[in-house]
Amino acid sequence: MNVLIIGSGGREHALAWKSAQDNSVQHVFVCPGNAGTHLENKISNISVNSKDFEAIENFCVREDIGLVIIGPEQPLVMGLADYLQNKGINTFGPSKSAAQLEGSKTFSKDFFVKYNIPTAGYKSFEDFNIALNHLEEIKYPTVVKADGLAAGKGVIICKNKDQAIEALNSIFKDKTFGSAGNKVVIEDFLEGEEASFIAVVSKDKIIPLATSQDHKAVGDGDVGLNTGGMGAYSPAPIVNEEIHQKILDKVMFPTMQGLIEEGSPYLGFLYAGLMIKDGEIKVLEFNCRFGDPETQPILLRLNSSLVELCMAAINNNLDSYSIEWTQKHSCGVVIASEGYPETYKSNKEININENKNQDAKLFHAGTKYENEKIITAGGRVFCATALGNDLKEAQENAYNLVQKVEFEGAFHRKDIGFKGIK
Ligand code: AMP
Ligand code: GLY
Repeated sequence: MNVLIIGSGGREHALAWKSAQDNSVQHVFVCPGNAGTHLENKISNISVNSKDFEAIENFCVREDIGLVIIGPEQPLVMGLADYLQNKGINTFGPSKSAAQLEGSKTFSKDFFVKYNIPTAGYKSFEDFNIALNHLEEIKYPTVVKADGLAAGKGVIICKNKDQAIEALNSIFKDKTFGSAGNKVVIEDFLEGEEASFIAVVSKDKIIPLATSQDHKAVGDGDVGLNTGGMGAYSPAPIVNEEIHQKILDKVMFPTMQGLIEEGSPYLGFLYAGLMIKDGEIKVLEFNCRFGDPETQPILLRLNSSLVELCMAAINNNLDSYSIEWTQKHSCGVVIASEGYPETYKSNKEININENKNQDAKLFHAGTKYENEKIITAGGRVFCATALGNDLKEAQENAYNLVQKVEFEGAFHRKDIGFKGIK
């Protein structure tokens, strides 16, 4: 079978790399991909516009694509999965209506309340002045969120009222996040430790993936601006057996059931971003996709076939699927361009002195291949990912791999995994 992966990040490199390992897979195409996917055996990049659904469909028919996996949120929220499924193409990803769980914070918060899913208290606003008045009535810190998609940057933690006023101005008046800021959610600040819970879901069936923890802040010790994620590790000890069960019972099952009741049963990766404190869990957000960078360390631990897993979900056969993981731990460290998550430079030439090794993998993200050179093309450029017998060893191996990569302005966090080791 041939497989098509939609997207160009580190997550998509990992999805393509894992799919290509399957003996039943002849070839993997990535739309548009990056230098990493371009350089892999059995994988090719294609330059079809992923917003042009008909062009994707035509490509799938022409290349006899047996499975499409959609990586990022944007095409899902735009309805690419519905479109391809309606054309009879096996597509792993939620419908446009189910993807609203990520596409609109107002939708997801209202959904949590309706289905009794624990989350921070909140109010949603379309009017600047009404939102401003609300700032008089709340406790600080508070959290101001643009309603729509903002590449993980639409959440502003405000220590006091002045910062909250600034956040409202930025979202409503300056339109920093464009139309994603037509509505704003103001919610209670939650304390605790975060974890990512990602599962493969098909209607009322679920296979939880290995647990993981991301590092959202740009700086060591979780300081500085929020990013798309600076590194992740798996498993995450904070999600012990009891918490795992609680997440299933209080978050995942009610969400799956709620979506069925809303007429939008889920198919795809479902990602709950959680805050955990004293054994209690609250949902910060849902993502309608696999996490980036969580995908990279999680897939390095997956012994089963990703393609078979996705096909089992599509064919409503998850019940009879048993997923296998290596007992090893995994750690992924993001190498970013100086300035990220704010403005950064691109087109820097990259040198890689990697010794290929089964237990380590350098996943590309913002890279492209031009004139036989690998050059930077994004804020997050690589995720150096490695296994180890424990987290400490995985961390050491991942940082050894980081040292093999050089480009002007490269930086990374030095403490990925610290909470798991502590
Ligand atoms: P979100 O996109 O909603 O997950 O928010 C991005 C990040 O902002 C989260 O991973 C948290 O680090 C932080 N965050 C979001 N909501 C809250 C909250 N209510 N309390 C504390 N931190 C939050
Ligand atoms: N790593 C967080 C995300 O994928 O949204």
